[in-house]
Amino acid sequence: MPLVIAIDGPAASGKGTLAKRLADHYRLPHLDTGLLYRAVALALIDAGLSLDDPEAASRAAHALDADRLDDPRLRERAMGEAASRISAVPEVRAALLAWQRRFAADPQGAVLDGRDIGTVVCPDASVKLYITASSEERARRRHLELAGRGEAATFGAILADIEARDTRDASRTAAPLRMADDAIRLDTTSLDPDAAFAEARGIVERARGDS
Ligand code: DC
Repeated sequence: MPLVIAIDGPAASGKGTLAKRLADHYRLPHLDTGLLYRAVALALIDAGLSLDDPEAASRAAHALDADRLDDPRLRERAMGEAASRISAVPEVRAALLAWQRRFAADPQGAVLDGRDIGTVVCPDASVKLYITASSEERARRRHLELAGRGEAATFGAILADIEARDTRDASRTAAPLRMADDAIRLDTTSLDPDAAFAEARGIVERARGDS
C-alpha cells in the first residue's frame, strides 16, 4: 500500500515544514494545498477581480495553472488572508478537490498538508496528523519568517491575522478546519522543528507497523 500522509492544522502551526521533512525522509511527493488556494486568490487579484465574487473565484479555480505554484508572491501575508476568504466558496473547493486527489493517488504515495486533508481530500490516508501550537507561538514563528523575507509587520498584527484566519477557516460550512476522528494531534508549541519531526516520524512508523 502506498504511504499517504495527511497533515492538517491552523495557520503557521509548522505543518508545512513538517510535511516537507516527512516527504524528504520517505521520498514522497509533497503538496502544500494552501498554495492552490493562494494561487486562486492571486489569479483574481492579478485580473483585478473581487475576492468576494464566488463565480469569478470558481472560474479562477477551474482555470488554475498548477505549474505556477512557485510564484514568491503566493507566500505573502496578504495572500494567506485572501486565500482564506476564497476558500470558503464550495465551488472553489470542489474544483481543487479532484486535483488534490490525483496528486494523492501517486503510486509512490504522497504527503499533503492543509486544512481538510484528513477529513475530505484523503479520508483513507495511511496516517493523519493534526498539528497545533498556541496562537502566540504561531504568531512568533510567522513574524520571524516574514521578517526573514523582508516583509515588515508587527507581532500584534500577525497575531490578529492568525486568530481571524483560524476563526474563518474553522467556521465556514464547506470543509471547515477540523481534526479528523482518526488523526493524531501533535502540539508543537514547545517543540523545535527537529523535535516535531522526530515525534511525527514516530507516529508514522507506528501507523505503518499497525497496518
Ligand atoms: O496553509 P496556508 O496558510 O497556505 O492556507 C491559506 C488559506 O487557504 C487558509 O487560511 C485556508 C485555505 N486552505 C483551505 O481552506 N484548505 C486547505 N486544504 C488549505 C488551505
